[in-house]
Amino acid sequence: MDMANLRVGVIGCSGIGTTHASGIVGLPNVELAAGCDFVQSTLDAFKEKYQDNWDNISLYTNHQEMLAAENLDVVTVATSDHRHADLVVDAANAGVKGIFCEKPMATSVEDADRMMEATERNGTILSIDHTRRWQPLWRHTHDVIVGGGRIGDVQYVIGTLSGGRAMLFRNGTHLVDAICYFADSEPEWVSAELEDGYEDYNEYKGDGGHVPATEPSAHGYIHFANGVRGYYAGGPKTTLSGFRVEIVGTNGYILISDKGATLHQDDAVETIEAPSWDMTGIPAGVRELVGLVAEGGQPVSPGSEGYKVVQIIIGFLTSQQRDNGKVKLPLSGG
Ligand SMILES: NC(=O)c1ccc[n+]([C@@H]2O[C@H](COP(=O)([O-])OP(=O)(O)OC[C@H]3O[C@@H](n4cnc5c(N)ncnc54)[C@H](O)[C@@H]3O)[C@@H](O)[C@H]2O)c1
Repeated sequence: MDMANLRVGVIGCSGIGTTHASGIVGLPNVELAAGCDFVQSTLDAFKEKYQDNWDNISLYTNHQEMLAAENLDVVTVATSDHRHADLVVDAANAGVKGIFCEKPMATSVEDADRMMEATERNGTILSIDHTRRWQPLWRHTHDVIVGGGRIGDVQYVIGTLSGGRAMLFRNGTHLVDAICYFADSEPEWVSAELEDGYEDYNEYKGDGGHVPATEPSAHGYIHFANGVRGYYAGGPKTTLSGFRVEIVGTNGYILISDKGATLHQDDAVETIEAPSWDMTGIPAGVRELVGLVAEGGQPVSPGSEGYKVVQIIIGFLTSQQRDNGKVKLPLSGG
């Protein structure tokens, strides 16, 4: 990868922001130029962790000041679930070339619309951290096993998210994205039922993704334009923890979780072997984006895919408000 002195800034410098920065360690001519966080002690720890790699990291408590001063090429956003939109819009308007934004992309259609508009108008590459897209087992199963026609035409995708953190926005976004990844089409309509006790939950009322009680789990149905049907089975939060997907095609089915994947055809069961990558997950996503800024190309998890997920999740909330009925997508953010 030939990097021409790319300058990177991280907004939200606690655990996940620190992981973002790890994705560029060792890349020639790529500099961690700045970090921004509300909390000074978080900034100090961030700088200390990376000072052996870069000895001139500037620290900010205001992202606009950082954007104005640092002439950044790449910005990563690792703030709370409901605090991504302004940061992505402002970074795009400041002329940043690539943005790696944590999931969920946004917690309202209006915010997601603003992010799409600003990045498209400015020609900014936007990548959303639905992390399994940079896990070799998930990528290989998608590209080689399903993409290679091993189960024929995909007919439906069943995703299951369980456990105490089966919150629709916080972790459900990963499952909705996994369903979209394998459905490979536009969602046309949804219907859903939210967790008992959340009947009036008509917009995001979470605390940024920390306390599970601030957002519901859900069950939902997704109708895709190409005929694939998606089933989102999320919770209740009292189930044992789990994340798995079943992809059913005309010629077999796949069961995949983070622990492994199997291909089933009649009575035959084949273990799907993941290739080995030097870097996986979140750091690999950041590294992909930096490479795209240097060399061009499309992210594996572009803003347009994150946008579908926001539409589906808000569609689930809307369905709940309409007696669990059919909600046509896309919803407008007005
Ligand atoms: N991809 C994954 O597997 C994965 C795993 C965990 C968390 N996440 C995501 O990472 C993000 C961060 O999660 P978290 O729980 O660490 O969030 P958090 O609420 O703890 O906030 C992270 C940091 O952002 C800072 N911050 C918030 N708003 C800011 C602003 N406007 N400007 C500057 N700093 C700001 C906070 O001070 C804090 O240090 C979330 O979107 C979460 O969903 C992703």
